[in-house]
Amino acid sequence: MSSELRARVVEEFRRRFGGEPSFLARAPGRVNLIGDHTDYNDGFVLPMAIDREVWFAVRARDDRRVAVHSIDFDEDASFALDQGGPRRDGWVEYLRGVSWALEQGGCPTRGWEGVAAGDVPLGAGLSSSAALELAAARTFAAISGIVWQPVAMARLAQRAENEWVGVNCGIMDQLISAAGEAAHALLIDCRSLETRLVVVPDSAAVVVLDTGTRRGLVDSAYNERRAQCERAARHFHVAALRDLESETFQRRAAELDPVTRKRARHVITENARTLEAATLLEHGDVAAVGTLMNESHVSLRDDFEVSRPELDAMVDAAQRHGACFGARMTGAGFGGCAVALVQHESAAAFTRAVADEYTRNVGLRPAVYVCSASQGASIESAS
Ligand code: GLA
Repeated sequence: MSSELRARVVEEFRRRFGGEPSFLARAPGRVNLIGDHTDYNDGFVLPMAIDREVWFAVRARDDRRVAVHSIDFDEDASFALDQGGPRRDGWVEYLRGVSWALEQGGCPTRGWEGVAAGDVPLGAGLSSSAALELAAARTFAAISGIVWQPVAMARLAQRAENEWVGVNCGIMDQLISAAGEAAHALLIDCRSLETRLVVVPDSAAVVVLDTGTRRGLVDSAYNERRAQCERAARHFHVAALRDLESETFQRRAAELDPVTRKRARHVITENARTLEAATLLEHGDVAAVGTLMNESHVSLRDDFEVSRPELDAMVDAAQRHGACFGARMTGAGFGGCAVALVQHESAAAFTRAVADEYTRNVGLRPAVYVCSASQGASIESAS
């Protein structure tokens, strides 16, 4: 998959710009094994970078412009580095946002030209935008002589998304795209931004189950959930729900209105599940991790209310398969993907059976595939 993308961006670069690119930059999408809607509560997440990526073929320019051709959108875009707004819609705003965030962060950038292509499905909850941002950040860093520091760059990319693109996301997607490692998931403490690599055991395959539905008006629902969590934290006089002890919450839960109570309960229990899942995964206890994933889905569906019928149907089909350790919706929700942990040797049979079952029940053809944990954003030689 990635060798195909690499070849395509290099070939297209030669055709459009003449000569060779000086280097390639790539960054992965991600799937989150457990820990959703916890990152903006200063909590814990356990995502892994996947072998779905964005690739750039790049060469420096002498002026302060960026000129990029997107193969996926069949579109040229260019912008001057010194220009502020206006901000428009579309893929190039992620690049402009990253250059803006770098400048704001005290890292002067230089101009470049290049070709971009990717295979992270858009709007599926696999963080295509973070992949684009981190591929852009890696490019700008290499072109401009900025030392690559994954955590600092993830924060800048998150700032680009929050303040330039205007999506109020947490840090998970950018940090895993920056700092993922092959064969590992990454436990992230979203407050300290400390990370712990967790091996994904060979006995288990990670399967992405794309329902084929796309999240619609997700921003308002996402922001509403954030506000509810903040309200709960304020009620208990803690900085974030991460700080609320489970016992305190249980004792005083009745003080909250029913909706806020459910939101808080999800975050508190999900943080505990995520920490436990990381430890269990380290011990190779994939069956127990699967059980926690199943519980996470129930919590996201009933307490946080970010699932939808197609996601529930997919998770149900996955969980009923004999080779499945556990399954849940993944990411922001409201559409997109579920993730399942499955016996390695039965993964191919699992993907076929679950896809068929989902089609029978829902009437949509899903994309179901085994994915492998891949490395975070990197620079590759063009030759
Ligand atoms: C989106 C956001 C993340 C995170 C997840 C839910 O992917 O970008 O920051 O909040 O939703 O876990």
